[in-house]
Amino acid sequence: MYHIGLLGLGTVGGGVAQILADPVGRHPLLKELAIAQVGVRDPHKPRAVALDRQLLTTDLESIVTNPAIDIVVEVLGGIEPARSLILKAIAYGKHIVTANKAVIARHGAEIFDAANAQGVYVMLEAAVAGGIPVIQALRQSLGANRIHSISGILNGTTNYILTRMQQEQGDFAPILADAQRLGYAEADPSADIEGWDAADKIAILASLAFGGRIRREEVYAEGIGGITAVDIAYAEKLGFRIKLLAIARQLSGQPLEVRVHPTLVPLDHPLAGVNGVYNAILLEAEPLGQVMFYGPGAGAGATASAVVADLINIAALLPQGRATHPLLTCQHEEFVP
Ligand code: NAP
Ligand code: HSE
Repeated sequence: MYHIGLLGLGTVGGGVAQILADPVGRHPLLKELAIAQVGVRDPHKPRAVALDRQLLTTDLESIVTNPAIDIVVEVLGGIEPARSLILKAIAYGKHIVTANKAVIARHGAEIFDAANAQGVYVMLEAAVAGGIPVIQALRQSLGANRIHSISGILNGTTNYILTRMQQEQGDFAPILADAQRLGYAEADPSADIEGWDAADKIAILASLAFGGRIRREEVYAEGIGGITAVDIAYAEKLGFRIKLLAIARQLSGQPLEVRVHPTLVPLDHPLAGVNGVYNAILLEAEPLGQVMFYGPGAGAGATASAVVADLINIAALLPQGRATHPLLTCQHEEFVP
């Protein structure tokens, strides 16, 4: 049995606990995974998920230093205390699963360096595009390819808002409130609206695809705050849909471009039809050609699906000992510019 320390029991942590509590009909390794401790801010708050209250603690350090815990799942969000807790957990020999793109986009090099020194895994499938297995695809299935460009809808909240503004001519504020209620938005939704969340995600994807030359602070980010229902209606009349695109591309002989901004997408383009909380990533790869990933990009179920996939991968690899499998653990140099 592998023992999990879960840091956070909000939208994502609650989704993970729910899947682990109901393993029948899912991957057989789920029966080898048990939640041993759960870190929260408020242990008395009502929770949607049925979990033994005795497992809850506000002492998160006691989780990452607990010798009985094998894998720490960090689903707190934000930079601190997430970064320090991840680093401490690694120092104590724990494997890490995180959904936290903000911390990986800014501190990935430090975290992977520490993990490689300790021989532990750091998995981050849930950090980009919710339930879409794009990290594993870039690291494994597409390994034969050179990636020339990535164009993606990487933020579910803004795509949900733009879709509803287009379909219902609805106002921005109540639609954002719905996205928050549905668990799509970040704790501070300005990370979604301003394009910062998508910038974190494209920085991670570009680091994996183009070999670690991406500094998060150099990613241009412009959000959807200035887009009105009138802009959307005019764009439609002219044959375009407004989408918040995250782009990373390397034209021959040119420096790598990494940027996020609202874009006029022709109505017959595959990204124009991606609606609601769905995300999509269109890759130009050589020799494969064009490939598109599409699926739910946020919310409890989609994101927990990716977190649990990482847990299954770690559980499958642990009998082999130290984390040396270069296809499944991220390497330091991918996050060092
Ligand atoms: P959330 O609903 O706000 O949950 C955060 C959880 O962490 C809560 O249980 C909270 O405790 C706990 N927490 C936060 N700071 C803490 C602290 N300093 N000490 C103790 N406990 C603390 O957030 P979420 O939506 O699950 O997101 C978690 C992470 O997943 C973020 O990095 C986010 O970017 C990422 N993510 C989210 C989604 C999504 O659709 N929501 C999708 C992909 C990735 P209390 O419950 O006691 O308040
Ligand atoms: N707030 C993020 C989004 C969560 O809306 O895409 C998923 O990373």
